[in-house]
Amino acid sequence: MRKLELRGKWVLVTGASSGLGQEMARQLAVKYSANLIIAARRKDKLEELKTELEQTGISVKVMTADLSVHDDVVRLIDDCLADGKLYGAILNAGITYFGRHSELPWEQAETIVKTNVSSVAYMTTRLVAHFEKTKAEGGVMIVSSMAALFPVPYQAIYSASKAFILAFANALSAEIQNPALSLTVYAPGGIATEMTEGKKFDDLKGWLMPVKQAAAEGLSAFIGRKHIHIPGFFNRVGNVFMNFLPRKFLTKNMGKVYYKALLKAEGV
Ligand SMILES: NC(=O)c1ccc[n+]([C@@H]2O[C@H](COP(=O)([O-])OP(=O)(O)OC[C@H]3O[C@@H](n4cnc5c(N)ncnc54)[C@H](OP(=O)(O)O)[C@@H]3O)[C@@H](O)[C@H]2O)c1
Repeated sequence: MRKLELRGKWVLVTGASSGLGQEMARQLAVKYSANLIIAARRKDKLEELKTELEQTGISVKVMTADLSVHDDVVRLIDDCLADGKLYGAILNAGITYFGRHSELPWEQAETIVKTNVSSVAYMTTRLVAHFEKTKAEGGVMIVSSMAALFPVPYQAIYSASKAFILAFANALSAEIQNPALSLTVYAPGGIATEMTEGKKFDDLKGWLMPVKQAAAEGLSAFIGRKHIHIPGFFNRVGNVFMNFLPRKFLTKNMGKVYYKALLKAEGV
């Protein structure tokens, strides 16, 4: 399968108003000259990014959508597929909760599942169906997390949501008939973005990858049509090493690290 050729093609990036999505959109414009559909809830941030990126000579469409609301998800994907020109999609939008699961209100837990799981599964289903029907060339990448590879205590709902989409996309990719379509899973470790701002993450800041590097590695995996990619050499080595450890031991010790960070943020 030849690499994706993004110049002048339309690519959807969800969660483009900040962090990894914003940086991937920036690099898609500057390094790869792709036209962009940028989506998120914060219209002002998206409009600012549109103005910035259009300076590079590409075209940008802004689409606001709340991906925890199914009607918005359907509208977004209908609009993206309407003219048949979509070449790629990076399903990046996601939210987390870092704290004791017992203190997470159920409505908030449900919003995480709707945003991180339902919207991604639905959009992936529609995108794959589209490319299967048209037999067009293209690529889809979903942004999961290393938290999908090993259960993360104190981010239990988040970790499980990322594991769902990783398993879903990896399994679905083996059902794809169109030889010109790739479905990639991107699984970063911690990244310095809005998601990891705030006191709770203070103790974990040393682990965070700069967002520019995370975006560059993600795009290279997308363009290279990788099945799954973990950015960062040490993250990849860590992943191999952790696979040799008993799951219960690993989860317990991971829990200790996150609990310590949580207590510190609470001033305990
Ligand atoms: N940061 C990390 O350590 C890390 C590690 C591994 C994986 N990831 C994954 O990377 C992806 C990007 O996260 P980030 O670190 O860049 O976080 P971020 O800076 O908080 O960005 C999250 C993006 O998702 C959008 N979003 C959130 N809820 C939404 C909703 N209901 N509807 C539409 N858009 C929504 C936000 O836009 P609006 O608020 O404008 O809607 C924002 O653009 C996520 O899937 C995350 O799980 C992050």
